[in-house]
Amino acid sequence: MTDDPSNGPSSGLSGTVEGLLESEGLAAAARTLFGERLAIATAFARLLAGSAVERGLIGPREASRVWERHLLNCASVTELIGQGESVIDVGSGAGLPGLVVAITRPDLTVTLVEPLQRRVTWLTEAVEELGLGTTVSVHPGRAEGASAELAPADVVTARAVAPLDRLAGWCLPLVRPGGVLLALKGESVDQEVAAAGPALRELGASSWDVRLCGVGVLPSPTRVVRVVAGSSPLNSSRGGGHRPPTRSRHSARRSRRD
Ligand SMILES: C[S@@+](CC[C@H](N)C(=O)[O-])C[C@H]1O[C@@H](n2cnc3c(N)ncnc32)[C@H](O)[C@@H]1O
Repeated sequence: MTDDPSNGPSSGLSGTVEGLLESEGLAAAARTLFGERLAIATAFARLLAGSAVERGLIGPREASRVWERHLLNCASVTELIGQGESVIDVGSGAGLPGLVVAITRPDLTVTLVEPLQRRVTWLTEAVEELGLGTTVSVHPGRAEGASAELAPADVVTARAVAPLDRLAGWCLPLVRPGGVLLALKGESVDQEVAAAGPALRELGASSWDVRLCGVGVLPSPTRVVRVVAGSSPLNSSRGGGHRPPTRSRHSARRSRRD
């Protein structure tokens, strides 16, 4: 990367993360999702394509697809998060989706849970460098057992951490009653949800469904399993049900409390 920090987001210089955004036709989506926070998102894109690759947090091939695959994919999930809510991001890795959520929505407080020290160090540096210290904290450790140390959150997010049944077992204890787990998933989301049904019931989830985020904004919308935590996490008598995917229009400031 040969980024010149003086180049604005629309400078269109090839070889920069800004140039990448324009050459891939993603500039409009980025402006819609990040708004006035686009400069911070661009600074994070530089970190991802630079030090995160150099230090092995993401693979070298990711440098050329940081926007669509990482920043835009993760930012779209904020349409499912209400104003001022608390968020725990489990298995943050290089801050995905947690740091992107915090960049997109300064009204949220975000805790990044990550067990690998190398990643914790990078995340801590990134939070500092991006000036996000007032809303973001890094919690070193695994999700299992973190409920003893963290206050229950309105929302727990996770991407590419574990299959849904195992993920729910780790994450639902971190969600307040009636709060939600938002699990970003790939194309096989429906099979994964079907397989996880018994575990979700056992964990006391009150409902779950699949949402599509970034519809009409992203080239391919983000698939998110939205699991609502029951009032009693271990009450298996509260049955859940899988509903077909629902379109969810982008509205970064919309409140959706259950
Ligand atoms: C494949 S990476 C995904 C990172 C990031 N969420 C993303 O989408 O790029 C999985 C991450 O989950 C973390 N992880 C694995 N098991 C975990 C656990 N039990 N609790 C919390 N994090 C965990 C790993 O250290 C790693 O950073």
